[in-house]
Amino acid sequence: MKVVVTRKIPRLGIDMLEDAGFEVVGNESEKLLSREQMKEFVKGADAILCLLLDKIDAEIMDAAGKQLKIIANYGVGFENIDLAAARQRNILVSNTPSLLSGQAVAEFTVGLIFSLLKRIVEGDEFARKGNFGGWKPEIFLGQNLTGKTLGIIGLGGIGCLVAKMASAFGLRVVYYKRNRDGEMEKKYRLEYLSLENLLREADIVSVHVPLTKESRHLIGDREIQLMKDGAFLINTSRGGIVDEAALVESLKKGKLAGAAIDTHEYEPEVNPELCGLPNVILTPHIASSVKEVRDDMARLAALNIIEALNNRQPPNLVGDK
Ligand code: GLV
Repeated sequence: MKVVVTRKIPRLGIDMLEDAGFEVVGNESEKLLSREQMKEFVKGADAILCLLLDKIDAEIMDAAGKQLKIIANYGVGFENIDLAAARQRNILVSNTPSLLSGQAVAEFTVGLIFSLLKRIVEGDEFARKGNFGGWKPEIFLGQNLTGKTLGIIGLGGIGCLVAKMASAFGLRVVYYKRNRDGEMEKKYRLEYLSLENLLREADIVSVHVPLTKESRHLIGDREIQLMKDGAFLINTSRGGIVDEAALVESLKKGKLAGAAIDTHEYEPEVNPELCGLPNVILTPHIASSVKEVRDDMARLAALNIIEALNNRQPPNLVGDK
């Protein structure tokens, strides 16, 4: 049976698939396949192992052929796959919800909170450019975390870990989730607020929800206007959740003090207007980029394929299959 891998992934996953006896055809480059290349590449595949920027819709599924059994996404998010089209064709879809990945994203988020409030990235750039004229009491005045309110939107695995870490640094943590989670509230001493009240009360807002039709532009102009003057926004979830045009405006007008954006609305593009703003930290979607995490994701993606092609239940199915 044939497995196609759309981009370079850690070797461990490929080895697992080969050891399981499959023919593995990889696109060993770091380059995204064009639509036409993708249609050609997937032909005859029993399994497609793909990445977040590969749009896998009905056309690609049909180009693969009727034997296609599973689309295994290398990633926690899977908004790049048309689940309805897969369901119609009886194709399984899986993701890689590695526990290590959640830990990595939560740690990265806390790193961004520190970097923003302490102005570490701005200070780094200043020092590199040779602007440091000696110690002064009032350059790059930052803020302490203790006593500030962190508002977490979405209290899944990552949101909970961020809450736990942030509480340890003396932040008051409030959260919003569609379904209130009494158990986690108690466990991490969190306060539940409506989305509007969270936006009004938080000094730092961090988004941890998946991208769906409902969550697209969850943070738009209206929501940003509800935020405190001088608040910070952090997005390590998915770019489309924050309306970047509204974010740019609010930063330019000084409504928000800063933002840290790891996931971008039009990936792989990074908003040029955000690039021009000093109080923004921009990273290239690397919150979960840790060697152990990437290996674990490769392991999970391969495992899902091995199980599916051996007619067993893959551990990480998504959608309602
Ligand atoms: C990365 O963003 C992922 O979804 O795994």
